[in-house]
Amino acid sequence: MNTNTSRQGQPFQAFEIGAQQGLDSLRQVTRDTPDIPPGEVLVRVRAAALNHRDLSILKGQYGARKSETRVPGGDGAGEVVAVGEGVDGVQLGDRVTAPHFVRWIDGEYDPAVFVADLGSSRDGWLSEYILLPAAALVKLPDGMSDEDAAALGAAGITAWTVLQTLGQMKPGDWVLTLGTGGVSILALQIASIAGARVAITSSSDDKLAIARELGADITVNYRKDPEWATTVRAATGGRGVDIVVETVGLATLEQSLSACAPNARVGLLGALGGRPEDGVQLGNLILGNVILKGITSGSRRMLEDLLTAFDTNGVQPKIDRVFPFAETPAALDYLANARHVGKIVIAG
Ligand SMILES: NC(=O)c1ccc[n+]([C@@H]2O[C@H](COP(=O)([O-])OP(=O)(O)OC[C@H]3O[C@@H](n4cnc5c(N)ncnc54)[C@H](OP(=O)(O)O)[C@@H]3O)[C@@H](O)[C@H]2O)c1
Repeated sequence: MNTNTSRQGQPFQAFEIGAQQGLDSLRQVTRDTPDIPPGEVLVRVRAAALNHRDLSILKGQYGARKSETRVPGGDGAGEVVAVGEGVDGVQLGDRVTAPHFVRWIDGEYDPAVFVADLGSSRDGWLSEYILLPAAALVKLPDGMSDEDAAALGAAGITAWTVLQTLGQMKPGDWVLTLGTGGVSILALQIASIAGARVAITSSSDDKLAIARELGADITVNYRKDPEWATTVRAATGGRGVDIVVETVGLATLEQSLSACAPNARVGLLGALGGRPEDGVQLGNLILGNVILKGITSGSRRMLEDLLTAFDTNGVQPKIDRVFPFAETPAALDYLANARHVGKIVIAG
């Protein structure tokens, strides 16, 4: 089927990353809907979700400098409004999402996925329309909102990779996750669905109260309790945690390792905290036979499994706030100031 022509050349609104010198580089532009390449579809964006990575890209801190006309946004959901040549199994009106690495369909990570990365090497979701390869699409479960599907994207599949693929999480396992941002809160929710127990840290008691409402068993304020790993270990009865979702990076790694039970799995995925001047002591990694693995997002298959897990368990991803499309700059500012718990979504 080819319904390529009906929307060609119609104006729509999008954001571009501009000179990548900070959040002010973001600019709103008018574009014309494009020709649809073979194997791709045009999607009317209904919701997009922000990630810490969007801030890094706007600051020029995410790999090589990108095209100034790049549309940001790795996560979103919307409705198929036109399809290109050679597309089968996708209908006009289908509600869809996709992993930000649109060529990572299944199987193990390969750095080649970076050539087609929404919001980085390929135009993303902070736009009224987006082109997507049909092979990357995941159809939304009927009962799932566009906002919820968007919120589950990159942060959700990254947490999923740590907990399921690396962590081999079982009911009763202890999971430690750091901070109350998008990845960490989705990790808490995924672990709760699986019957695991969760320890979570935050700089804010108010945010920890929300984490408890979402099912956290152990909550520690890392500002008030700098030796938070000792507190976490004690609260697990002295044994420690089985899986760590290391969202902060080298700055917290030593403490995360000291909170680990023997044979724990640690997924290192963030770089929020910089590097400690004294380096990182890895004694607990060796003595505990702990597995430490770098994690870079996840595949289309994982996204599909993640959507199914939330849908069949009747759980909604924690969305802190929904901003209208025109207020995308304010939404990014809200993210940058870490005022949120969970995800920030753009819709309408
Ligand atoms: N590798 C991947 O595939 C992948 C995918 C997604 C994200 N990431 C990375 O994962 C990290 C988190 O991303 P995100 O989108 O979830 O970010 P986010 O929503 O902006 O969350 C940031 C939160 O992290 C917490 N935090 C910051 N510094 C901390 C510290 N020293 N100790 C404990 N918590 C701290 C804060 O929580 P409180 O306000 O509660 O203190 C802050 O609100 C980023 O580095 C991001 O680039 C990696």
